[in-house]
Amino acid sequence: MSAMLPSGASLYDRVRRVIPLIEWPTFSDDIDAILGLKRQRNAVILAHNYQTPEIFHCVADIVGDSLALARKAMAVEADVIVLAGVHFMAETAKLLNPEKTVLIPDLKAGCSLADSITAADVRLLRQRYPGVPVVTYVNTSVEVKAESDICCTSGNAKAVVESLGVARVIMLPDEYLAQNIAAQTDVEIIAWKGHCEVHERFTPADIRQLREDHPGVTVLAHPECPPDVVAEADFSGSTAAMSDYVGSQKPPRVVLMTECSMSDNVSVEHPDVEFIRPCNLCPHMKRITLANIRAALERNRHEVTIEPEIAGRARLAVERMLSV
Ligand code: 13P
Ligand code: SF4
Repeated sequence: MSAMLPSGASLYDRVRRVIPLIEWPTFSDDIDAILGLKRQRNAVILAHNYQTPEIFHCVADIVGDSLALARKAMAVEADVIVLAGVHFMAETAKLLNPEKTVLIPDLKAGCSLADSITAADVRLLRQRYPGVPVVTYVNTSVEVKAESDICCTSGNAKAVVESLGVARVIMLPDEYLAQNIAAQTDVEIIAWKGHCEVHERFTPADIRQLREDHPGVTVLAHPECPPDVVAEADFSGSTAAMSDYVGSQKPPRVVLMTECSMSDNVSVEHPDVEFIRPCNLCPHMKRITLANIRAALERNRHEVTIEPEIAGRARLAVERMLSV
């Protein structure tokens, strides 16, 4: 097969291990347009680790886990931020950059965890457990964050819980993350019943089968997985921690129990590591495409706005997290 490399061919070199050459022409026009629009509008693209490789490796300026995206959002100097990720991530970027235009390319890019709890639920929990601080995972709406004492991500949850210096906390909404953190700390954790629809589907039987089929495989599991899955894994950590583990430990064979694009994105940097790729797709993350990122920059859509009073309270919870 001989396919003509379009302009942006050097970008193709970055992703050649995960995007077949025959597919590249379907991406290159949008990539060229997005690179031009970013310059025109003084815009940056923040992309989560679950974005597809043509977004993650070819148009994003800042990539990372939820914690890194929040931290790096604070230092952005551009006029416009496009969040290639899900809605709560765009809200967090807006909270930290109230003066900037923050765009999410598809308003329906939600999250099953964020949908599992409302601000009214948090107020009821406070009535039920008076005086117990509320630690809220960033995978929540801005209204829920506004009812919280402090936020956390999968990358800093244990440190945040222990930073409060109390014997008991409410940690919401991810039941499994709460249970996985409870296993690592003496702080008593009251959990909510939310689950990530991607990670809740992994089972310990999956891991046993993988070990049987791929001897010597190192299993990394995200802490949104059920505790019995995390218990059978070799390592558990945020998406950034998993990526760092592959970089520092260089396991010959690895499986990432998480969203599908993670392995694609990490494997680009580690040609010597064999990635076994059972994975679950996040339908919300996959709503973001090159085409709607381009449309976001061309038509200034969809702009994230937050009611100032709610923003003020939610920002405090995020800033407290960032100071831990
Ligand atoms: P992290 O990248 O912070 O580990 O979060 C994973 C996730 O599911 C985000 O929606
Ligand atoms: Fe939400 Fe899970 Fe998708 Fe992350 S992977 S956005 S936690 S549904």
